[in-house]
Amino acid sequence: MSDLKKLFKQALEARNNAYAPYSNFKVGAAVLTKKGHIYKGANAENVSYPCGTCAEAGAIAAMVSAGEYEIAAIVVVADSQNPIMPCGACLQRILEFSNKDTMVHSADLNEIRFSYRIDELLPFSFHEDLKK
Ligand code: THU
Repeated sequence: MSDLKKLFKQALEARNNAYAPYSNFKVGAAVLTKKGHIYKGANAENVSYPCGTCAEAGAIAAMVSAGEYEIAAIVVVADSQNPIMPCGACLQRILEFSNKDTMVHSADLNEIRFSYRIDELLPFSFHEDLKK
């Protein structure tokens, strides 16, 4: 099985655990790191709606918790007719751990439907060098 197919399967698996009783829109995400490891996330909604978190945020938090900081690719999966785009905030979250080759893949329940580089999806990002 290709790396991408594996990543898609992991995202699907995460989606099964999504907690989305308010929107009924389950989302799964799986991140492949430069080191070759996979971390998963699902959306986790809250009765106080703005407290809910996106699948991508969960996957990135799992990656960081494991001490990894470089995303090679991310797959986001939902059951929607048009493949979903990560929301604006999640694009920024992905970008933080990306390089110029980082890929964002969007999938429905059957297959990956589109693939873009992160800088195609968020070409004009906030990237001030606050680390100096
Ligand atoms: N959601 C994600 O998890 N990722 C996205 O990229 C878009 C939206 C979630 C948030 C909320 O739980 C539900 O989908 C409906 O917006």
